Formats: sequence, C-alpha cells, structure tokens
Amino acid sequence: MNKNIRIRICTGTTCYVMGASDLLVLEEHLSAEQLSRISITGAACLGLCREHGLKPPFVQVNDGIISMATIEKVLDAVKAETEGGLYAYDK
Ligand code: FES
Repeated sequence: MNKNIRIRICTGTTCYVMGASDLLVLEEHLSAEQLSRISITGAACLGLCREHGLKPPFVQVNDGIISMATIEKVLDAVKAETEGGLYAYDK
C-alpha cells in the first residue's frame, strides 16, 4: 500500500562534515512516482549528535532514525515504508 513518507536529512555541522552532504543528492536516486509521495527536507540538528552510541550523519524517515546514513540505507528504508516491509531503524 502506498503512503506518504517524510524524510529529514540533518544538515547540522556534525552531520554535514560526517557525510550528510553526500545525501543531498537523494532526490536523484528516487523515481518520479516515489518523489510524488515523499517530502524531503533538511534539519538544522536533529539533536542526536550528542547521544552516545549513535553516529552521524542522521536521517529521519517518518518516525525512524537512520544513523551513519547513506543513500543506500535511506533507499532501503523508503522501500520498506512503501512496500509495508520492515526496516531496522537505529532509533
Ligand atoms: S548535527 Fe545532526 S543530529 Fe546534530
């Protein structure tokens, strides 16, 4: 079942220098059909960079947090969210 997905890419300083800049091309990896159902925004700081045990960069997909986020991880989460599967979020 299709549903809308919210993606927030942390572009705070810590996440940005740890690789979030590479995530800003996420849209290029999504189909037009996916893009019609996904909102992608930046976040100044998701407040996770001060938590122990989680490593930046962080991306929030709906209510789930991906740490050490990569394009591939976000695409896997999007696939799970759109197809009703499970994704092992870090938080
Ligand atoms: S800079 Fe990304 S969570 Fe703080």
